[in-house]
Amino acid sequence: MTAKVIDGKAFASNVRAQVATHVTRLKEVNGLTPGLAVVLVGEDPASEVYVRNKGKQTVEVGMNSYEHKLPAETSEEDLLALISRLNADPAVHGILVQLPLPGHLDSDLVINSIDPAKDVDGFHISNVGLLGTGQKSMVPCTPLGCLMMLRDHHGSLSGLNAVVVGRSNIVGKPMAQLLLADSCTVTIAHSRTKDLASVCRGADILVAAVGRPEMIPGDWVKPGATVIDVGINRIERDGKKKLVGDVEYGSAAEVAGAITPVPGGVGPMTIACLLANTLTACCRAHG
Ligand code: GUN
Repeated sequence: MTAKVIDGKAFASNVRAQVATHVTRLKEVNGLTPGLAVVLVGEDPASEVYVRNKGKQTVEVGMNSYEHKLPAETSEEDLLALISRLNADPAVHGILVQLPLPGHLDSDLVINSIDPAKDVDGFHISNVGLLGTGQKSMVPCTPLGCLMMLRDHHGSLSGLNAVVVGRSNIVGKPMAQLLLADSCTVTIAHSRTKDLASVCRGADILVAAVGRPEMIPGDWVKPGATVIDVGINRIERDGKKKLVGDVEYGSAAEVAGAITPVPGGVGPMTIACLLANTLTACCRAHG
């Protein structure tokens, strides 16, 4: 079997087009323009690329983008003061603080100082609790993007065995909550899981979010399974720089029923879902 390739790039482009249509209508009918503030502390090159892409795509769908670039040595007090101003600013509907933050800043404290209604990352403890109890919340962007692609491919996910490899707060844990809410039987596996290979082989849906290049080979994939590869790992092979996922794509694509490629799978969906969350936050703020 050769897997169907789930085209995240095309999917994300569709999501952005739908967001743009809604934004146009909000402007015409309600005179509202959604605004997204992105806060970057320090000069991490990968984070700078993400923030630039976020700003560009925010403007492309017709929203206002507010970028706040702060020096690496910014104090916690100054960062909290900025967030407080953004919380109070009616033109700002979504606030994203790019992670990781420099070591002297307490990420939990900073994230939990964001107004939960503007927390478009879905990382605030209130949103985590709301998601875990099935209440209306902001849903973290990467898992939301994965869920949208899974629903599109399967229709109903009810009763399927889902294995999430990785237990991060950003991807693994919220992904598991979303799959559970869609009535999957969910296993969260991680680096200490015994016989990870056989756990993975039981998965109808296998989500890999560990950040280890090509850790999951094709013979860990159940024939016909859907493989969602969240990993984005920069490696060097044969003297060339390359981007690979957490799954060994070539061998997995021979057995899977469907698979997301890297690049062009989950990656583009993350920013598209961030824009969708910003639109949602704006609509909720204005009833
Ligand atoms: N760093 C890597 N991924 C993310 C994300 O989804 N949100 C934020 N705020 N920072 C990140």
